[in-house]
Amino acid sequence: MALTLALRDGDAADIDTPLLGVLLPAGNELPPELRSLDGRLGGALTRTLERGDFRGARDEILHLDGGSSRAGRILLVGMGAPTEPAAGLRRAASLLSRQAHRMGSGSLVAVAPSGDADAPEVIAIGLNLGAWEYIDLKTPPPEAERKKPLTRATIIAGDGRESKDALARGEAIAAGYEVSRRLSQMPGNLCTPDLLAKTATDIGRRHKLKVTVLGRREMERQKMGSFLCVAQGTPEDPKLVTMEYRKGKRGAAPIVLVGKGLCFDTGGISIKPADRMEFMKFDMCGAAGVLGAMEAIARLKLKVNVVGIFGATTNMPSGTAVKPGDVVISHLGKSIEIINTDAEGRLVLADLLSYARRFKPAAVIDAATLTGACVIALGHSATGVLGTDQALVDEVITAARKATEPGWQLPLWDDYKELIKSDVADIKNSGGRAGGAITAAMFLKEFAEEYPWVHLDIAGTAYSETDLVAIPRGPTGVPTGTFVEFVRGRAG
Ligand code: BES
Ligand code: MN
Ligand code: ZN
Repeated sequence: MALTLALRDGDAADIDTPLLGVLLPAGNELPPELRSLDGRLGGALTRTLERGDFRGARDEILHLDGGSSRAGRILLVGMGAPTEPAAGLRRAASLLSRQAHRMGSGSLVAVAPSGDADAPEVIAIGLNLGAWEYIDLKTPPPEAERKKPLTRATIIAGDGRESKDALARGEAIAAGYEVSRRLSQMPGNLCTPDLLAKTATDIGRRHKLKVTVLGRREMERQKMGSFLCVAQGTPEDPKLVTMEYRKGKRGAAPIVLVGKGLCFDTGGISIKPADRMEFMKFDMCGAAGVLGAMEAIARLKLKVNVVGIFGATTNMPSGTAVKPGDVVISHLGKSIEIINTDAEGRLVLADLLSYARRFKPAAVIDAATLTGACVIALGHSATGVLGTDQALVDEVITAARKATEPGWQLPLWDDYKELIKSDVADIKNSGGRAGGAITAAMFLKEFAEEYPWVHLDIAGTAYSETDLVAIPRGPTGVPTGTFVEFVRGRAG
């Protein structure tokens, strides 16, 4: 259930709530706005900080009884050292709502050190991220055992225009994350190419975007031999979806966001091992990020032109599937030798990137769970960033940091091109194990002509196989925030 958020002015000590969440930065100082609460608690906050029982470290939580305050319980949540204050605040808010949800408190009040005009935005995003869960497919427990889901949260901040606007922005971005994470967490038999296309159509209807859906027939007419060879092993109709949001200057070149939407990746004939293959339902997180970002951008009413594009299909082994050694002709006209049918994401993206030229983009950013090699290189803490235009790379990395979805650049030097030369075609789809994230991007680069381009390899960051403390095991929402921040940075 979505979290209903409200703002409130005033003193934390005066608010009736089953749970008061106090978000605190590292250190042992009591922020002045908590003095009267401390008074109600007989100085318990001051003593706790002085003794070092709570130090405000990242992910630190201390549970206090509400005592004679008007809060049932109080949770102190650490924000960590203020190197990246927004990141600390967002993470603490997320941890707070996750904890509140587990406790079954039903509602909460959050208070953070004042002074940051954007705080309601950041807290709203954090609270939503932490309260999120996907329970559609579970039988609800019997009434008596049911915990109250967290449905309402109040943020203590000024209730003037500035705070209200910040809250609305946070809710818009949270709605984008919700779209993205929900689709990502859905199993492959429910989250089909058709469902992704229908979600795009639905977003388009609600926000008046022009949405176009191409199926197998239309893609054949477009000669998208690269995308189609991935889809030839599945009976399901592949979808190429474009979503056009045009609230910028008339005729101004749009930003184009591109996403890989493999609703399931078995590897095809080059089949993957069974162990942990179920995680390959997350191979559509790039497309989910595009959908989530379009939802958020439309809600934010950003004055900018943006086109979202994604390609959705499933990579299956079958009698009709593409085989290693086959050669296909891409939409751009380049021939591709298929070395490994598990390197399918780049085949889908190649045709999307070539198709994107029709929008005469100011910039193209694609996001894809593209390579296991990127996970080896950067782990789960950074998205791989590679591109043809250094200014654009820098701009994307800045946006990613703002969104607390950090990225790290990898090189795209010509040397690497040797690794994807084919004996029989213009290029081959696998360069082997060495530098796998880079050779994948080198392959994409061959199809990203006529515009500045950046590629995000989100294989390690879009979902997690382990619990991340503030975020449960499953989809993180990456790259939704990065897309939104980039577009917001370009909006007029
Ligand atoms: N979807 C995978 C990449 C992936 C791996 C995403 C692990 C998330 C976690 C992609 O389609 C793939 O299979 N890539 C191959 C490329 C190789 C065959 C050149 C890989 O990374 O092994
Ligand atoms: Mn694959
Ligand atoms: Zn894949």
